[in-house]
Amino acid sequence: MTRTWPAVAALGLAAALSAAGARAAPASAADLAARGAEGFMGDLGCSNCHFKDSNFAPALEGVAGRRIARAPGFLYSAGLKSKPGDWTDANLDAFLSNPQVFAPGTGMDASVADPGQRKAVIAYLKTLR
Ligand code: HEC
Repeated sequence: MTRTWPAVAALGLAAALSAAGARAAPASAADLAARGAEGFMGDLGCSNCHFKDSNFAPALEGVAGRRIARAPGFLYSAGLKSKPGDWTDANLDAFLSNPQVFAPGTGMDASVADPGQRKAVIAYLKTLR
């Protein structure tokens, strides 16, 4: 992703302001979700497949907490469809860290190696309703 210099300067200013305002405070859920959204739509490439009315990937609205592989109208792989349980934080984290280990035969091969980035993406998924 390319950023223009003014955008970089604005981000730097925002970071400086929030650091001054809330010293040593942990990133808020909103900050985390915003970082996740940036990755989802940017370098992680999730939105290349997961977009509105996509035929390539299931809709992710309401995915957090839902039964695994149950987006209406999407034809899932047998590997993911036969996986029991719901999309808890732990299951999302395991799936995104290595989809083929979580659900062998899954049709999703994108993964997120960095644990912090997975946390941010999961926070973003929870905002999709
Ligand atoms: C190359 C296309 C592609 C990309 C890129 C991709 N996905 Fe997927 N994703 C899929 C497909 C296809 C499935 C369904 C897999 C199956 O049926 O086994 C899926 C399933 C999922 C599910 C489970 C949905 C459900 O209803 O159970 C989640 C959550 C998910 N993807 C998140 C992500 C995130 C986050 C990213 C970015 C890191 C991402 N995906 C990138 C194609 C993609």
